[in-house]
Amino acid sequence: MSNFRYRLRGNPGPITVEDYHRRARRSVPDMVWAYIDYGADDMQTLAANRSAYARHMLRSKVLVGNEAIDIAVTVAGQRLSLPVLLAPTGLVGLSHWRGEVGAAQAAEQAGTLSILSTASSYSFEEVAAATEQDHFVQLYPWTDPSTGRHDLTKSFIERARNAGYRAMFVTVDAPTSGNRESERKRGMGRPPTITPLRALNAATRPAWTVGFLRHQRISARNILDAGGARAAMRSIGTQIQMMRPDLVWDDFAWVRAHWDGPLFIKGVLDADDAARAVDLGATGVVVSNHGGRQLDGAVATLDALPAIAARVGDRAEVLLDGGIRRGSDIVKALCLGATAVCIGRPYLYGMAAAGPAGVRHVIEILRQEMTRTMTLMGVGSVKELERSWLLPAGRPT
Ligand SMILES: Cc1cc2nc3c(=O)[nH]c(=O)nc-3n(C[C@H](O)[C@H](O)[C@H](O)COP(=O)(O)O)c2cc1C
Repeated sequence: MSNFRYRLRGNPGPITVEDYHRRARRSVPDMVWAYIDYGADDMQTLAANRSAYARHMLRSKVLVGNEAIDIAVTVAGQRLSLPVLLAPTGLVGLSHWRGEVGAAQAAEQAGTLSILSTASSYSFEEVAAATEQDHFVQLYPWTDPSTGRHDLTKSFIERARNAGYRAMFVTVDAPTSGNRESERKRGMGRPPTITPLRALNAATRPAWTVGFLRHQRISARNILDAGGARAAMRSIGTQIQMMRPDLVWDDFAWVRAHWDGPLFIKGVLDADDAARAVDLGATGVVVSNHGGRQLDGAVATLDALPAIAARVGDRAEVLLDGGIRRGSDIVKALCLGATAVCIGRPYLYGMAAAGPAGVRHVIEILRQEMTRTMTLMGVGSVKELERSWLLPAGRPT
């Protein structure tokens, strides 16, 4: 529905992440929606990520006299105006043609940073050139079957370093592709299948279709640019050949040896794994199950967080992603030991519904909700958030 019709009905337009969710659904073709929004198999982990927040209730203290609420944090040496980063998501150009460039610009305008995916629709170099800040970058330690074990990974690391990225996030929860049946059923298999009906469906989203046809930001640019891998990696379908079920801790140590800056391991749900990564020199860990897109049945990230924070929180930064849709979710994650959170789908909803302005608005919504939540709780600063602010839902205090 156009903005005009919204206003005519007295509707203020999107004011929550869920509003952007609904708008995004109507803005992109069904195939793309399946890629953005769905998860693996029965999507139990996708649902669990979300429902975990409702099991924790917030304490509140009255008449505490807080005025300014301080929600700034530091991640990898970078001060952020709020504890929210944009998670790496592949092919943001499918949501909106402005893709990762628009998302990273929106993040920095909001005083935070974006983590650029290896599988981005704009290259490492394009995003770096279009932004003021040194953003973060995510690494899939992929192999080009036609070259040596680490050659492709090494080229990604060198390009990311030369382009000026500040911190690297190595994703380790994708040794193979998750079973995203819902995507395949809607044509987003590998490779995607376009039928006349699907083309017709796309035509009902004219703004998306014009952007798609004019800008063609639909393939993983870093891989297309990766010289030797170029021919082999032309289609989304062949990316799967680069995924590596044989990855071991030595490979993580190898990345550590080749990247001088802050290094995070992304996709950890086990405290022993987190400790091992930190022992190998990780600056931090991202407690993540890839937004329920990989192992269905994996534990909700909020449930995995406390043990990991207890094990490594005194010597590493602990980030969390998965299911954050409200400012109060962020508060709960920080109470359970996270330094900051990353959002994936929420900013893709903003992107799909309204381009970079939608991403900025989603971040502002979360900032306002978080600040209001803390004001109502009687907490003045994120530094004060700790487990004692939470109560189990349904139990007397
Ligand atoms: C469409 C989509 C693409 C993604 N692509 C990547 C990726 O390329 N690399 C990566 O490490 N994680 C990827 N993720 C996972 C996100 O980084 C993040 O873990 C997840 O989205 C967090 O859950 P949320 O969407 O509920 O916020 C992707 C997630 C989505 C939704």
